[in-house]
Amino acid sequence: MNARTSPTLQHEVVSKPREVERLITGTATSDGAGVKLTRVLTQGLQRRLDPFLMLDAFGTDNPEDYIGGFPDHPHRGFETVTYMIAGRMRHRDSAGNEGLLQNGGVQWMTAGRGLVHSELPEQEDGRMEGFQLWLNLPASDKMCAPWYRDLQSADIPEFRTAEGVTARVIAGASHGIAGGMQRETTLPLYLDLHFEPGSGFTQALPAAHNGFVYVYRGALRIGDTSVPAQRMAILKNQPDSDGVILHADEPTRALLIAGNPLNEPIAQYGPFVMNSNEQIHQAVEDFRAGKFA
Ligand code: FE2
Repeated sequence: MNARTSPTLQHEVVSKPREVERLITGTATSDGAGVKLTRVLTQGLQRRLDPFLMLDAFGTDNPEDYIGGFPDHPHRGFETVTYMIAGRMRHRDSAGNEGLLQNGGVQWMTAGRGLVHSELPEQEDGRMEGFQLWLNLPASDKMCAPWYRDLQSADIPEFRTAEGVTARVIAGASHGIAGGMQRETTLPLYLDLHFEPGSGFTQALPAAHNGFVYVYRGALRIGDTSVPAQRMAILKNQPDSDGVILHADEPTRALLIAGNPLNEPIAQYGPFVMNSNEQIHQAVEDFRAGKFA
């Protein structure tokens, strides 16, 4: 299944849609070698949006904002999901893997017990736009072997609803269409939705899953709440709710992300996310001892 076929879509049935709990404005920051970005999901929201640990949005036409990229740095204990809307980024890691992430593609990387990698722009001008999401691993998987997968744009299942929404299914499933990635335990749903003016999109969500919507162009209505561009709407966890309904009055693009909370302790020190301070000390020690190489 890919964007070039016309799948038979199943209806998503939602009778009690979730409301918006609150809107979040991202924090302008820089990371790596001076890459300017907006941190939308910050450390203070990790418990609330468990199993998600971070969401960064980057989008600029100015090479000075991205040209330094992210030189060699380690990760341990979680997964990074990088979605490139525009631009080209080359990644290399200490296991000898290398790939080019570009124009609608996704890199899904499971850091597990640890790796060192770089993420460097492979362009000197032009637009660079995309997102990096951090997804936690269950305690039992934090020391698994590192793993990654590059999904080119054509590998990401895509469909268009009769109401005029094009959905790219990066992970999970929507309208009966399975996404490019499936993960056990955290069961992430990751959709990139493109709305025509006057269109709506319905998505069933388990009531216990934490979910949010990030509008990156245009604006959405969710129940009585207007969500402008560059805002994240945290969806309320109403115990009797069964999904979410999104409406757009103008051309709009948004990410809809949800997952099953782990409800485990979160200990973070920079690029290491474990369950206890002892495990964080161990991660730092292992990294210094060259055990990530
Ligand atoms: Fe990284």
